[in-house]
Formats: sequence, C-alpha cells, structure tokens
Amino acid sequence: MMLNMSLTNSPAPFAVYVHWPFCLSKCPYCDFNSHVRHGGYDEARYVRAVEAELAATAQRVPGRTVSTIFFGGGTPSLMQPSSVQAILDAIGKHWSIAPDVEVTLEANPTSVEATRFRGYRSAGVNRVSLGVQALDDASLKELGRLHTAQEALDAVAVARSIFERYSFDLIYARPRQTPEAWATELKRAIAEAAEHLSLYQLTIEQGTRFFDLYKAGKLVVPDDDLGRDLYDMTQQVCADAGLPAYEISNHARPGAECRHNLVYWRGHDYAGVGPGAHGRLTLDGRRYATETEKRPESWLMRVEASGTGLIVDEKLTPAESADEYLLMGLRLVEGIDPQRFTSIAGRTLDPKRISILQGEGAVETTADGRLRVTQSGFPVLDAVVADLAA
Ligand SMILES: C[S@@+](CC[C@H](N)C(=O)[O-])C[C@H]1O[C@@H](n2cnc3c(N)ncnc32)[C@H](O)[C@@H]1O
Ligand code: SF4
Repeated sequence: MMLNMSLTNSPAPFAVYVHWPFCLSKCPYCDFNSHVRHGGYDEARYVRAVEAELAATAQRVPGRTVSTIFFGGGTPSLMQPSSVQAILDAIGKHWSIAPDVEVTLEANPTSVEATRFRGYRSAGVNRVSLGVQALDDASLKELGRLHTAQEALDAVAVARSIFERYSFDLIYARPRQTPEAWATELKRAIAEAAEHLSLYQLTIEQGTRFFDLYKAGKLVVPDDDLGRDLYDMTQQVCADAGLPAYEISNHARPGAECRHNLVYWRGHDYAGVGPGAHGRLTLDGRRYATETEKRPESWLMRVEASGTGLIVDEKLTPAESADEYLLMGLRLVEGIDPQRFTSIAGRTLDPKRISILQGEGAVETTADGRLRVTQSGFPVLDAVVADLAA
C-alpha cells in the first residue's frame, strides 16, 4: 500500500533532448539530421542558441523535475566539454534536476573524441553511448566510418574507465554478413559491453548514398528471411549473455535500460532543443508535438531572431496521442497498458483485432493485463501497430 502511494505520487519523468547536428563526415547509411561543415561553425554561438531555446521551453513547462538528459546527434562528442557544461548549467537554472539524473552523450569512438571524455564527466555526463557500428575494419570502411575496430574498442575502454555507465551501437544485417560471422562479432561485442547494447538492423533510408547504391543494384543487403534469422540469433545470443532485449533494438541487464529512451517509449514528456529536435509537452492536459528547424544555420537565425527554432507546435488529438502511445509502447518488451490507451484515446482497443493477433502469435496479454508484442511479432511490428491503431 505504502509502495503504491509513493509510486502514484512520484512525478512523471521529464526528459531533455539536445541535438548537436554536426559530423566530421556523412556516413552513407545515415539519414539523421547531421551536417558536415568543412568551413567550421561558431560553437559558442550555437550553444547560446541552445540556451535560448531551453529558456523558451522552460517558460512553457516550468516547475518540472528533469529525470534524464540526452545529447544526441550528429556528433555531440565534437563539442567542447565547456559547451556541454554550459548547456547542463542552463538546464539546471530552469528546472530542478532529479538527484539520480541520467545524463547521456552520444560519442563517435575515435581517439580524438575519447580525449574529451574526462571533461564530459566533470561537466556532469554520467553515461556515454558510442557508435561502434562494427568490429570489422572492412565493414567499418564500407559504412564510411572514420575509426578502425581497434580504435573503437580503445574508446570503449576509455569510456569504461571514466563513466559509471556506457553503451555502444552496432549495425547488423550488413552486406554479405553471414549469421556465423555476426554471432562471432556479437559475442566479441558482448565481452566488451557492460550493461547495455543497441543493435540495429541496417535500414536503407531514402536520400542516403546507400539508397542510391541499393537502387542501382550495387549494394546488396540480406533479404527478409536472412534478416529474420539474424534478428532471432541476436535475441538468443544476447539473452543467453544476460542482456535480453527490452526494446526491439535495445538490450540491457535488467535495471540498466536507457531511462531517457524509456521516456519516449512510455509516452512521457520531453523537451527537444537544437536543430531538428522533436519534443512532446503536456500543457493544460493536452499533448503538444514540437519540432525545430532542421538546417543548422536557419535554426540559428530563427533562434537569434525570436528565441526559438520551432517550426511545428501542434496540439495532438486524443486519437493521435493514443496512436503514438501504441507505436512507441509496443516497441518495448513490457508492452502497453490498455487502460492508459483507453484514457488517452477515449475508446478501447478493439478486442476482435487483439484476439486475431493473439491467434497469429503476434501479441500476448501479460498476467498484469498489459498488451505486448511477442518475439515472433517483433519482426512485423509495423503491421501489428497499424492493425491495432486503425
Ligand atoms: C544518431 S546515430 C549516431 C551517433 C553518432 N554520430 C555515431 O555515428 O556514432 C545513432 C545510431 O543509429 C544507428 N543508425 C543510423 N543510421 C542507421 C541505419 N540506416 N540503419 C541502422 N542503424 C542506423 C547507428 O548505429 C548510430 O550509432
Ligand atoms: S552515423 Fe553518426 S557520424 Fe555518421 S553521419 Fe550519422 S550522425 Fe554523423
């Protein structure tokens, strides 16, 4: 009873996402909002603009307690530690910070970037997420990465010596990758991982160099069947090593999940600042979707002129919010709370559709009444969500 009371009274988590849009080079598979500026850019000016956006956001949602902060990119590890410090100070000026706040910074695993890790730690970062991508030099070259496998592993070792928590990303289902080669690589990665790994299947995104090569028949990636085998093997190898999936592409020791990303997937509020950042804010009981201008220079001009780079600030309808709750929540192994869906949507999930999906083995209901996607349903997650949302 006491426990229930305290859970009910604890404030909903509130996250802050800071987007740093610059990279040293553009990877051919990447469609994130990342930009190469050979002529350089004025870092201090961008940091001041991020501070201005934080101030504008705090005016709209004052009085929150920040539970997680995430510097994503682009390549936030190109930032000077003093810039990270300034942004964290600004966040602390506008909101209270939870004593156990999780502060993650996404880093590229080059030796130059690793030299800044200690400075990030002093600034208040307590978790890093490294984009290792592959542990094989030929693949790294094909992926357009600027580091070797050894350099990435050295950066992981530096991270391990400085931060309490670290994670790294790998991309699998790469051209010519066999299940045997992936299993060997994954086991090597697990030996280097502590508590968390993000394992993404290579997706060919429109507008990327890989997309053009793929369309021209010059890049061949595993077909659906092989992709499925690679996915199933990934689940098995990670679960056997004590790193089960808690989300479709994320694995952690129980309790070591990325709390920031859980805020997105569990449908809580987050402020998004920096070029091309998305946010979700609840104001007077209604949820707003926010989005800022993507192009760094245009974003900067907007913020300097008006204090914010917002180009989307849209009140979501209950149906839109509920669909989003499904879309995000069903990515999680814990699934969704159907009652919460009902309270957001003003309608219940269709029991007939649920029972058809259950019959197909794609979803299941847990003992405590949650609805979740099964392991065999995850590879067809988009179809499951579309079916339930319709
Ligand atoms: C914002 S990005 C990268 C962060 C950092 N700049 C880096 O490259 O290490 C986050 C992660 O998404 C993954 N990713 C990006 N594009 C992808 C794609 N087309 N397919 C699969 N994974 C992708 C990569 O693993 C990457 O580390
Ligand atoms: S994968 Fe990372 S380094 Fe490469 S372009 Fe995307 S954001 Fe930049």
